[in-house]
Amino acid sequence: MKEFIDKYYKYIRPYRFLYGWAKDFHSKAKCSTRAKEWEAKGFKNAKLDICGGRNPYNPEEFLNVDIVNFPNVDLVFNITKKFPINDGIIEEIISVATLEHLRPVHVSHVINEFYRVLKPNGRVRISTPDIEAIAKGIIEKDDFDIILQHLFGKYKSNATEDLDLHKSMFPSEMMIEMLEKAGFKNAKRIPMNLDLHDERYNYLIEAWKE
Ligand SMILES: C[S@@+](CC[C@H](N)C(=O)[O-])C[C@H]1O[C@@H](n2cnc3c(N)ncnc32)[C@H](O)[C@@H]1O
Repeated sequence: MKEFIDKYYKYIRPYRFLYGWAKDFHSKAKCSTRAKEWEAKGFKNAKLDICGGRNPYNPEEFLNVDIVNFPNVDLVFNITKKFPINDGIIEEIISVATLEHLRPVHVSHVINEFYRVLKPNGRVRISTPDIEAIAKGIIEKDDFDIILQHLFGKYKSNATEDLDLHKSMFPSEMMIEMLEKAGFKNAKRIPMNLDLHDERYNYLIEAWKE
């Protein structure tokens, strides 16, 4: 197959978009089907990736929630509003590179919603930029483009949308306090082992609903 593609690439090239389109179509169909299956079960024992967007975490196990209906998103809703999910039924939640896109008032709301929808013994993991590590990076004169990206978000083009920009960040101790205030227990920082973002400038915290 590879040889065939290499040989005829100049003829195939103009139609590459069809491959992307077919891949997205297949991905959307798969996500819609499993979203419907989970909806029929009332999302009982589902695992949620809160704002997996274009870069979901473990999509085989976690349903990808996002405000934008990207091809690999399962459930589309705005997390700054009440989640369309019943109390105490979700098995596990992960939220990676998301809370920094919200205003502080919405971060508290989202943490409270995590607590509400999780079932007893449910686990939440939150990864977000580490403002203290970023401050240290500035003082130690680390690559300034990397620092700016973590502080403000990725400017993908001049037309970068508001959703892509960062609006808040909390030291890990403060995030732990916010989780405890919502009712979570055993909130603590754990190794940043998700292979998703730079471990120097992002932390990972886990907490449990008793
Ligand atoms: C930087 S991406 C993170 C994607 C992925 N989790 C990762 O680690 O790369 C942030 C995502 O949050 C989504 N988002 C931002 N605000 C949101 C909101 N109010 N409700 C739901 N999703 C939101 C964006 O659409 C985007 O896909």
